[in-house]
Amino acid sequence: MEATMIESVDYTTKIPNNVNLAEDRQVLRALESWHPGYIDWWMDMGPEGFQDAEVYLRTAISVDPKGWAKFDYVKMPEYRWGILLAPKEDDRKIPFGRHKGEPVWQDIPGEYRAMLRRLVVIQGDTEPASVEQQRHLGKTAPSLYDMRNVFQVNVEEGRHLWAMVYILQKYFGRDGREEAAELLKRRSGDADKPRMLGAFNEATPDWLSFHMFTFFTDRDGKMQLESLAQSGFDPLSRTCRFMLTEEAHHMFVGETGVGRTIQRTCEAMKAAGIEDPSDIGKVRDLGVIDLPTLQKKLNLHYSLSLDLFGSEMSTNAANTFTAGVKGRFQEAKIDDDHQLENATYPVLKFVDGEIKRIDEPALTAINMRLRDDYTADCQRGLDRWNKIIDKTGVGFKLELPHVGFHREIGEFKDVKVSPAGKLVDDATWTRDSSQWLPSKDDGDFIGSLMQRVVEPGKFASWIAPPRVGIDNKPGDFEYVKIAA
Ligand SMILES: [Fe+2]
Ligand SMILES: [Fe+2]
Repeated sequence: MEATMIESVDYTTKIPNNVNLAEDRQVLRALESWHPGYIDWWMDMGPEGFQDAEVYLRTAISVDPKGWAKFDYVKMPEYRWGILLAPKEDDRKIPFGRHKGEPVWQDIPGEYRAMLRRLVVIQGDTEPASVEQQRHLGKTAPSLYDMRNVFQVNVEEGRHLWAMVYILQKYFGRDGREEAAELLKRRSGDADKPRMLGAFNEATPDWLSFHMFTFFTDRDGKMQLESLAQSGFDPLSRTCRFMLTEEAHHMFVGETGVGRTIQRTCEAMKAAGIEDPSDIGKVRDLGVIDLPTLQKKLNLHYSLSLDLFGSEMSTNAANTFTAGVKGRFQEAKIDDDHQLENATYPVLKFVDGEIKRIDEPALTAINMRLRDDYTADCQRGLDRWNKIIDKTGVGFKLELPHVGFHREIGEFKDVKVSPAGKLVDDATWTRDSSQWLPSKDDGDFIGSLMQRVVEPGKFASWIAPPRVGIDNKPGDFEYVKIAA
């Protein structure tokens, strides 16, 4: 078993891979010439102050779902970023759209080249962006366990960039090489060369933001990868399927990170005899993050992430679906004709001064559908958070805000909607929005708690320890050996 797993990935080339790069000289050369620029980018924009630290990381060494990773101490710049595609399925057929039932494409059909390139570049751009956003977090890590987790997420986002760059260089020739170079030039939040999507240009100033980001924004990534994993362009599908195995850990980091924060807050409230969650001053005096502030952070990150799904109604989205290029979440499990020529889908719209649900052509409402699936996926996580609160006996419930709240893109971009879904005027918004979104004071308070804790097994005041260690390591395991 072990032997076959390791054989499936070639580690003899500079770039570990299971795509036979050793015999694909042209692509190997393109990737090797891209490599130094990537390392420069990683040294400039990767985790600041920890490039010499020994980090207990998992590295993908196989695509066997039963045992694809190994754990060991690695210095991040020496991480083996590989190109790993999920195994090829025999006789795979295009599962949706105009070409439904035809054999999948091993090469790009000329007519869909521009469409595919755009999707690959947009996906690729998000990967390094989050590394850039998170580069300062090591300095304020609440524990070595958490520090290791952010670094794990970072190296894997780096690998996802490699995954997209491979597709660009292998299938898009010179344009692909140019796009691959551009991916190393844009910078999150840069005024002149920003990353392509809004949420990826926001700052990640503290660990609560990081955990909210991995819960909400990496989950958008999961939804996008899930729909690209359906693609009729088989190499893209296989790449995305393998990325999803890594992505699951990113969402675990977010969900448990916020969950542990909630746990700690509730336990501290109980211990101090504080019954009222809105007694913010008293709760904050305990060195924990009050639940109303957690709700505001959630409102912010959820609304920013909803914008990533684009406009509810989109002919672009309809075209990529009909072309067989990008499918729906769990396409195979949906009970319909997978072509949607005559189908409708209910879309929330702003009509005649009211928010209404209106049946629209299902094809143009593809983004809306994916966003709804995303909302349901987020809600399941919130339910688990609320269970943590319930168990401690604190009376508080976290809720997703209305989809019209705080939006920059789509139906609700020009109106103001409260988290409860009520249309409000500008005066009300100005008066109440500091109750709905984190204020500068909230950010300052959270920032004040961000003190680095590096003693193995110890945690900052505001977050509970995890229930189990990474790779089943004991509580006092030294996940990061910080260089002297
Ligand atoms: Fe990623
Ligand atoms: Fe991710």
